Amino acid sequence: MKKILVFGSFVVDLTSRADRLPQPGETVLGSSFKLGPGGKGSNQAVAAHRAGADSILATKVGRDVFGQVALDFYAAEGMPVDLIMRDDEVPTGTALIMVNEREGQNMILVVIGACGNINDEDIRRAEAQIRGADILMLQLEINQDALEKIIDIAHQAGTRVVLNPAPARHLPPALLAKVDTLTPNETEAALLSGVPIKSFDDAKKAARVLLDMGVRNLVITMGSMGAYVTDGTREEVIPSIKVEAIDTTGAGDAFNGGFITALSEGMDLFDAARFGNATGALSVTKLGTAPAMPHRADIVAMCAREYPDLIIKTRKE
Ligand code: RIB
Repeated sequence: MKKILVFGSFVVDLTSRADRLPQPGETVLGSSFKLGPGGKGSNQAVAAHRAGADSILATKVGRDVFGQVALDFYAAEGMPVDLIMRDDEVPTGTALIMVNEREGQNMILVVIGACGNINDEDIRRAEAQIRGADILMLQLEINQDALEKIIDIAHQAGTRVVLNPAPARHLPPALLAKVDTLTPNETEAALLSGVPIKSFDDAKKAARVLLDMGVRNLVITMGSMGAYVTDGTREEVIPSIKVEAIDTTGAGDAFNGGFITALSEGMDLFDAARFGNATGALSVTKLGTAPAMPHRADIVAMCAREYPDLIIKTRKE
C-alpha cells in the first residue's frame, strides 16, 4: 500500500453550539459545549486513516493536558504516534469554534500554539518519512519557514506534494511551483490567484492563474456547490452530494483525507475528488471534526450509490 504523510496541526477544538452566532460585543446563550481533537492536519490524517489509507501524522503539541488529548485519541484510533513532537515551552494549539445549529455554519478562531514552533530538529525527525512517502499532505497551520523546508525535502525526493492552503494566506510563487496538487476552497483560491470567485467560471479563471504559477493540479472546493477539478488539460465540475448537514466543521478536511486516500490507491485526480466528495458529505452528518470522519465502508457505500462507475479496490472494509 502507498504511504501518506500528513505534516500539519493538531489543536484541541473547543466547540460551543447555539441557535445563532453572536455579533461583536454581544453575548448569546449556547446549548452545548464539547472539547475534542481537531486541527486541519490531524483531521485530514484521521480522515485518511479511517478511509483506509496507510497514513501517519507529523505534528507538535505541548507538554500539557491538551497534548495528552492527542496521544489518547491516536491510541484509540490505532494511529502511529512516532512523529508527534512535544514542545517543552509552547502549549498545544486550540480552536474556539462556534456553531450555528440551525444553519450548520461556524466561526473558528485558531491559535496554533506548538504547531507554530516546528524547528529543524522536528523536521529532521520526520525527514525519512517525508522522503519515503508517496504523498505528503500539508495545510497552513504550521510556521511558514517549516512549511517551506518540508516542501523542499519532498520536492527533492520526488514525493508528491498535496497542499490544502487553509487557513488562507498569501504564498510565494516559488513554493506553489513545487506543489503537485493544490486543494483550496473558493476563498483561498481567490486570495492566492487574485481572482474573485462566485461561480465555476470564476474558479476556472483562478485555476488558470494558479496553473501558470506552476501548480500541476487543482481541486477548488466550493461548499454546497461542489468542486472544480482540473489538471490543466481536462476539467470537471463535481457537484456536491445532498445530505442532511448538522455540522459542516471539518468537511474540507474530510474531503482532503478521502481525496489523498484515493490518490494513494491509484485513482486519477477526478475519481479521487469523487471519493473525497463522498467523504466530505458523510462527515457533515455527524457532530465534531476528527470524531465525525467517516469509515471506509460508509464511503464505499456512498460512492456505490452516487458514482456506480467508480472502481474502488476492496480493502479494510
Ligand atoms: O477545518 C476545521 C479545523 O480548523 C478545526 O478542527 C479547527 O481545529 C481548525 O483548525
